[in-house]
Amino acid sequence: MNKICLKVNGKSHETEISSNLRLIDFLRDELKLKGTKEGCSEGECGACTVIVNGKTVNSCLVLAASCNNAEITTIEGIGSDELHPLQKAFMEVGAVQCGYCIPGMLLSAKAILDKNLNASEEEIREGISGNLCRCTGYQKIVEGVTLAKQYMGGR
Ligand code: FES
Ligand code: FES
Repeated sequence: MNKICLKVNGKSHETEISSNLRLIDFLRDELKLKGTKEGCSEGECGACTVIVNGKTVNSCLVLAASCNNAEITTIEGIGSDELHPLQKAFMEVGAVQCGYCIPGMLLSAKAILDKNLNASEEEIREGISGNLCRCTGYQKIVEGVTLAKQYMGGR
């Protein structure tokens, strides 16, 4: 067992966990944050993407025990009071179909825009390249991120 202290969506948690518990299972099963999705379980699809200390990670590949003192953002951490500009823009351009990839996609997009509000289309495509979507063909998703960028004051 490992004792960890971490912040998830701004809320502090101090708990004992087994040393082989994956971050995705900690989030979904222990904290009941079911918005983080599991697809491939091997780092290929990006459905399980969350932000740890400002960087996106595949939570299926990360041990929760390695996140001691980390700050984590899951999809539940954005847009809880009102829609995040990314959520608003995705809805407006019709970037959501089945929705399974969307939590991870939004977090990757958020990480891109948090770093660079003027990200180019190429940088947006590169930033979401680890997130697979079997429905949309990506064009609407790129349009959604571009519109959100404008809502957030970028060019
Ligand atoms: S479930 Fe983690 S990358 Fe696919
Ligand atoms: S909207 Fe269905 S996988 Fe992306």
